[in-house]
Amino acid sequence: MATESALQRQDSKIRIESWLARADERSLADNVRKGLTSRVKQLPPKHFYDERGSALFERICDLPEYYLTRAEREILTERAEVIVSATEAGELVELGSGSPDKARLLLDAMFARGALVRYVPVDVSEAALTDAAAELASEYEGLQIHGVVADFERQLDRMPQADGTPRVVALLGSTIGNFPPASRRALLAQIATLLGASDRLLIGADLVKDPAVLEAAYNDSQGVTAEFNRNILYVINRELDGDFDPPAFEHVAFFDPRQEWMEMRLRARRKMTVRIADLGLEVSFARREEVRTEISAKFTRARLRSDLAAAGLEVREWYTDDEERFALAVAGLLG
Ligand code: SAH
Ligand code: AVI
Repeated sequence: MATESALQRQDSKIRIESWLARADERSLADNVRKGLTSRVKQLPPKHFYDERGSALFERICDLPEYYLTRAEREILTERAEVIVSATEAGELVELGSGSPDKARLLLDAMFARGALVRYVPVDVSEAALTDAAAELASEYEGLQIHGVVADFERQLDRMPQADGTPRVVALLGSTIGNFPPASRRALLAQIATLLGASDRLLIGADLVKDPAVLEAAYNDSQGVTAEFNRNILYVINRELDGDFDPPAFEHVAFFDPRQEWMEMRLRARRKMTVRIADLGLEVSFARREEVRTEISAKFTRARLRSDLAAAGLEVREWYTDDEERFALAVAGLLG
């Protein structure tokens, strides 16, 4: 239900609620202050996604090196019907929805069965969410779209109640990999609270593979990922009146074989001091000092199974693309 701080827009089919406004400004300020004053500097990746960041991510999805999106789409194209018919779902709740390309495959399968009732995209990026809602509203007759602009790590209690229609909750694109193990399990446990006995979680996970393939995916030859990485500095400049010089930071992305995750960093090309006026903060960087901006964990079936089990969930179905680069797991409540 909306509170005073929530923005609501309603027409016949689309309803969009925003729970971010003040809460999110605070979260960016807190994350920047904490992350840039700690010994090892780091920033959480959710702050990449303003309008420009979401657009850059869409360009990443089309890059020849970034196989993840194509591999997951291949699985969904083949399996959406089976997944949907097994659950008889009529509602799709999509966390970190971004662009609607993959949702469309699931919505098509629900529509074809005559079961489709409601789509609930959830994203911190209001621009991505409103664009997606407008596109889909014209495509499915009678579809209710209830978009929620929110931080799914902190605000899952704001999600609309299930209305009796079985639901699929989807976390696609290997977004789960952007969370380190403890918060990943905490997030999965929160997501489990959205599920009833006959509902399912559909989770996309990038699989462990040749480091050369992984490193190419995060160091593309056109430099789009580098610009996506630096976008976090533009966000800080705009939102917190910072004076970062983004081109003064080099994009770094490498596979950590011990943790089995990709890591993205921004490395200062020179010694510098950055001022963030809204925080009254000055941050010094030594030449070549790095800020960690993202981890992107790569999974095995056993790792995802144990993360899900720790959150009270069990894998019911497991699908991969032909080359076994990416997996889609369908999970339900344990027991
Ligand atoms: N699901 C899409 C997009 C993945 S990109 C795909 O598979 O291609 C990750 C998406 O999650 C972005 O749209 C970003 O804005 C959103 N996101 C990241 N962290 C978030 C958070 N904490 N709460 C809500 N949305 C988040
Ligand atoms: C959204 N997320 C799963 C992407 C990933 O692969 O970790 C974000 C991204 N970072 C660099 N390229 C794409």
